[in-house]
Amino acid sequence: MLRFDFSRVLIENIPSGLTQDEIEKIASKAAEALDEMKNDQPGFLRIINNAEVLEQVKALQEWLSGFDSFVVLGIGGSALGNIALHKGLRPLNWNQMSSEDRGGYLRVYVVDNVDPDFVSSILDELDLRRTIFNVISKSGSTAEAMANYLVVRNLLESFGLNPMEQLVFTTDPKKGVLRKIAEEESIRVLDIPQDVGGRFSVLTQVGLLSAMAEGIDIDELHKGAEEAKRRCIQSDVWNNPALLIAVIHYLYHEKGRNVTVMMPYSNRLYYLADWFRQLWAESLGKNGKGQTPVKALGTTDQHSQIQLYNDGPDDKLITFIELEDYSRDVLIGKLHENEEVLSYLGGKKLSNLIRLEMIGTEAALTENGKPTMRITFDEISEYNFGYFFVTYECATAIAGYLFGVNPYDQPGVELGKRITYSLMGRSGYEGEVTLGRIKKQLLI
Ligand code: PA5
Repeated sequence: MLRFDFSRVLIENIPSGLTQDEIEKIASKAAEALDEMKNDQPGFLRIINNAEVLEQVKALQEWLSGFDSFVVLGIGGSALGNIALHKGLRPLNWNQMSSEDRGGYLRVYVVDNVDPDFVSSILDELDLRRTIFNVISKSGSTAEAMANYLVVRNLLESFGLNPMEQLVFTTDPKKGVLRKIAEEESIRVLDIPQDVGGRFSVLTQVGLLSAMAEGIDIDELHKGAEEAKRRCIQSDVWNNPALLIAVIHYLYHEKGRNVTVMMPYSNRLYYLADWFRQLWAESLGKNGKGQTPVKALGTTDQHSQIQLYNDGPDDKLITFIELEDYSRDVLIGKLHENEEVLSYLGGKKLSNLIRLEMIGTEAALTENGKPTMRITFDEISEYNFGYFFVTYECATAIAGYLFGVNPYDQPGVELGKRITYSLMGRSGYEGEVTLGRIKKQLLI
C-alpha cells in the first residue's frame, strides 16, 4: 500500500501553508476534469487491466525464455518507465547476477541515449546471440531510437545473425516506419495504443514487455493501477491523492513556487522521480505555466541540495518518498565505543539511520516554513508501482486542466527535433527557417 501525508502543507503546520477552504475551492474547479476522466476515459486509464494489452505482451513469454539479455532502444516516454521498473522492482545488481540467481529471467538494459561511449559499453556486455532488442518508438521517427536500431541491426547482420529472431518493435498500431518494416519482414511487433502518449505509456506494451522479461509480475502492476484508478477519479478531494497532488501543486504554483522536488529515500525508488520529472515537465510546461521538477536522492542529496531547499529561494514544494521495508538490512558494527562520533551508530541498522535522516530533514524544512508532502511505500512491490504511476498520471491530467494547458502534447520539443533532422541531412527538412542563421552563428 501507499500512504499519502499532506499535513505539512496545511496552514496549521506552516505559515506558508494552504487552508482547507482554498484546497476544496480549487478541487471543486477540477470537477469537470474528473468527470471527463470518469466518463470519457483517457487512454492511460482505459488500458488498465485491458486484456488485449496484457495478452499481447504475455504471448511473447515463451520466445523470451530462450534468451539471456533484453535491450530496450527508446527514449523519453519510451524508456523512462522501463528504467523505473527495472531499477525499482529488481535488485540493483540484477544485471551482474548469474542466470540461476535471476531465476532464468533476462538481464535488462535500456539504451536511451546516443552517447557513443554509453552505447558501446552496453553492447560490450552482451552475448549478442542471446540478446533480444526491443525498439520502442510510438512515432517510429525519433532520431535516437532509430539510430540505435540501425546500429544494432547492422551489428546483428554483420555477425550473421537473423534480425527477425532477435528484434521486437513496439510502435503505433498503424503508422510509422517500424510498423512498415515489421509488416514487410515479419518482425515481431507490439502496439502502443493510439490514445496513450509516450510519457503516459509505462503500463502499456511499452513498459510491460521488458518488465515481464525480467520476471516482474505485470498483472500485479495492473492490480495496483486499478485500485489507484478507482481512488483517483473520486470527487472527494480528501480521499483522492491525485486530486490533492494536483491542487496543492497548482495553488503553490500560483503563489510563486515554481520548483517541485521529488526526493525518494531509496536508491531503488529514485528512478520513479526520473519518470515523474518527464511526466510533469513535458505535460505541464506550456504557455509560460508549469513547474520545474527536480529529482533528489535521500540521503545523498542532503549533502548537496538541502542547504538550498532550507535557505535558498523560497520557491519549492518538496515530496519525500519514504520506504518502510528495504527488503534487506545492514547492521552497523558496534566498534570504537569510546569515540562519541561513532559509538551512537554502532548496533543500529542502516534502515533506521536512513529513515531518521528523512524525518530529521523533513522536520527541519517544516521548521523553516517550507511545504513538504510525504508518500510512504510499505514495501517495494509491483502493486505499489502500478498505484504510484496511475496516481501521478491522474494528478498530471488534473493539473493540466487547472493550469489550462493540454497535458498530452509537447510542441516545445518539436523545433529542436526539426533543426536536428535538417543538420543531419534528412530530406524534407532542408528549409528550416532558422537553420541558415544557426549554421552561421553556432556551427562555424
Ligand atoms: O512523452 C512523449 O510523448 C515523448 O517523451 C516521447 O515518448 C519521446 O519523444 C519518444 O517518442 P517516440 O516514442 O515517438 O520515439
